[in-house]
Amino acid sequence: VTPTAPAGEGCTLEDYGAEPLDLTDAVVGFSQSEREANPFRIAETQSIRDEAERLGVKQLLVTNANSQLSKQIADIQDMLAQGAQFLIVAPLNSDGLEPALAAARAKNVPVLTIDRKINATACEDYLAFLGSDFVEQGRRAADAMIEATGGEAQLAILLGSSGNNVTTDRTTGFVEQIEAEAPGIEIVAQQTGEFARDKGQQVMEQLIQANPDIDAVYAQNDEMALGAIVALKAAGKTPGEDVKVVSIDGTRNAVEAVVDGEINAVIESNPRFGPLAFQTAQSFYDGQAIPEDVIIADDEYTPENAEQDVANAY
Ligand code: AHR
Repeated sequence: VTPTAPAGEGCTLEDYGAEPLDLTDAVVGFSQSEREANPFRIAETQSIRDEAERLGVKQLLVTNANSQLSKQIADIQDMLAQGAQFLIVAPLNSDGLEPALAAARAKNVPVLTIDRKINATACEDYLAFLGSDFVEQGRRAADAMIEATGGEAQLAILLGSSGNNVTTDRTTGFVEQIEAEAPGIEIVAQQTGEFARDKGQQVMEQLIQANPDIDAVYAQNDEMALGAIVALKAAGKTPGEDVKVVSIDGTRNAVEAVVDGEINAVIESNPRFGPLAFQTAQSFYDGQAIPEDVIIADDEYTPENAEQDVANAY
């Protein structure tokens, strides 16, 4: 993936109204959205820290919003007050960051969002987005589910948290693919597990009690899938066998569960954005035009490759 736009497209320093900057002489801020209980978040923050260190960035400021939008706004404003000259933001929600974006805009500080998109105008309200194609992740999860179930199932969806494009896109891609390719898979329940392991377990307990015929679970992240597995076992089910499980992320515990046969497939969502985030920033400051969306390629863990590829998990 190269973070540069085709000729005549994309956002340049001039378009954005920013000043040239040498990252090794810059203060860079990173705003993390969710608590670091989830390996995705831990790996993401670590990747930003590692790359900043490797490049010799003068100062990296790191904040964590603990899943509170008001804190994320305050975090970004604080980093601007501390002199942040470039911001990398993992947005909690797709709407609501306007006051923080306006504060960055007022100082012409470019904002690169990673892992979730915001409903705003690239090159105006923020610089660009860097992350996965989440609709495609949903489609691939559907394909894996069709393969695991043979196209016949009573399926529950553990949705991610609401208010962000990742949850809606992973739902859209999955549902459209199931409707088009496997009419024998009936979606009997959809409930949010907030992208959290404990909530995934709790919701799965309720769903399996209300609908004991559920024999397939699409969890929109690995943490919820791992929680669901605990609930399924407690209900006397064998996850991966009599209840098929497909999830998204690629955490070590989930990929090990694929090896153990308790999860049927994991579609990767790679959180190691550090190298590409700083490369995007440097390309921008070097005068290159940056596309609105810089989309990374994700892998997939199946029973065929999980054992061999578990070292890539996070
Ligand atoms: O925005 C990415 C998603 O958010 C990841 O799949 C999930 O683990 C996280 O909470």
